[in-house]
Amino acid sequence: MNHEIVEKNIGLMMVGLIVAISFGALVEIVPLFFQEETTKPVAGLKPHNALQLEGRDIYIREGCLGCHSQMIRPFRAETERYGHYSVAGESVYEHPFLWGSKRTGPDLARVGQRYSDDWHRAHLINPRDVVPASIMPSYAFLAESKLSGKYTAAKMEALRTVGVPYSDEDIAGAADAVRGKTELDALVAYLQNLGTVITQKR
Ligand code: HEC
Repeated sequence: MNHEIVEKNIGLMMVGLIVAISFGALVEIVPLFFQEETTKPVAGLKPHNALQLEGRDIYIREGCLGCHSQMIRPFRAETERYGHYSVAGESVYEHPFLWGSKRTGPDLARVGQRYSDDWHRAHLINPRDVVPASIMPSYAFLAESKLSGKYTAAKMEALRTVGVPYSDEDIAGAADAVRGKTELDALVAYLQNLGTVITQKR
């Protein structure tokens, strides 16, 4: 009887739905903020160094995320291809995280150290040179563009305020660490570090 009243009154139904969904969300989401598994860095995790951090920003700027995820799901088909599934503790220093969901290209969560630096350079300059059937765009212009390092220290300071453990030396040395390097150098440094903390073989 009471149920019929709710079913026939859309206003009441909406209120009921909001309460039910909010409760469900609270029960699912809130505990994650307090679980060590999701809030503690995995052993050996280091924040991106200055060059890798610039590389990460280029990855964001160039929209690599639109074709590549960085999230290996715990399924056999994924772990056979990409390696150990992604764990939350690997992403605690990521602001924002770049897990993504679109996979026009392969997942990159553990691409670090899978190829040589030279392979990455050749691939980013013209993907068809190393993977003939590739539909990935060419990023040759990154090799022409030098990093200024003007904001690197400020970016690291900003990340430190949200809990990324950069030391004063890291920040003081940031501009020097990227000076003279190209955007391509930075992007390759970033890619080569992806997913390397958990090294279980594929
Ligand atoms: C339009 C979609 C698209 C965009 C945008 C794109 N890629 Fe790709 N990427 C692909 C495809 C498809 C492949 C697989 C073929 C190949 O290896 O080139 C690939 C392959 C790769 C690989 C090799 C992965 C492996 O395990 O073999 C890397 C590394 C990579 N991309 C990095 C990047 C980076 C960095 C960017 C941004 C600068 C980027 N991609 C932008 C589509 C894309």
